[in-house]
Amino acid sequence: MRLDKLLAHSGFGTRKEVKDLIKKGYVTVNDIVIKKDKTQIDIEKDVVKVYDEVIVYEEFVYYMLNKPGGYVSATEDNIYPTVVELIDDYYRNDLFPVGRLDVDTEGLLLMTNDGVLAHQLTSPKYHCPKVYYAKIKGVVTQEDVDLFRQGITIDNDYVCKSAQLNILSTNENSSEIEVTIYEGKFHQVKKMFLAVGKEVIYLKRIRMKDLFLDKNLKLGEFRRLTYEELDRLKG
Ligand code: URA
Repeated sequence: MRLDKLLAHSGFGTRKEVKDLIKKGYVTVNDIVIKKDKTQIDIEKDVVKVYDEVIVYEEFVYYMLNKPGGYVSATEDNIYPTVVELIDDYYRNDLFPVGRLDVDTEGLLLMTNDGVLAHQLTSPKYHCPKVYYAKIKGVVTQEDVDLFRQGITIDNDYVCKSAQLNILSTNENSSEIEVTIYEGKFHQVKKMFLAVGKEVIYLKRIRMKDLFLDKNLKLGEFRRLTYEELDRLKG
């Protein structure tokens, strides 16, 4: 693997930033300063240090993205730009989004190359809670809260698992809510509201299992998960 790639993969910044580190002489391979970013590294044998600290190659990476509208939750698409294109400090081509948010939905999207964790978070078997904030056209009522708890029927005959609907505010023609669901059916939140005669006009995911959207991330921004976040997600 190329030295600049290895450092970028290990969280030392964008390709440009790591090239800079290398050029300035902060990087050694087997205790020899190396200033060529294209140097090939054997990740099993060579000892690479940055600022005198040994680099441990990361097989798996985990990013939290605040997904903006207009991006599709996929690795390729013919119409829209993809969420993968937003993670511009990542140079491998194995990153993918965990689960799908609709193209117009914003908020928390985990991006990784760890297929096992992705499966645990998305498989219906694990009932992973996902929390959404939404603006709804129409007045959401206590009756809706009860119906969501009992299980809303969508797609003609699919009965959703019990969901917690929390009304944050209402006025005469719109409402703000938070809803927790335990599945990831296509357009699920939108369909659940349609089933009670209401329309989702804005949707944002704010939590997945124990991972909360970082309020400091603006739309389109991302950051790596902390070790604590990753532990909680895997636990
Ligand atoms: N439910 C929806 O309707 N859309 C999403 O993007 C996520 C959940």
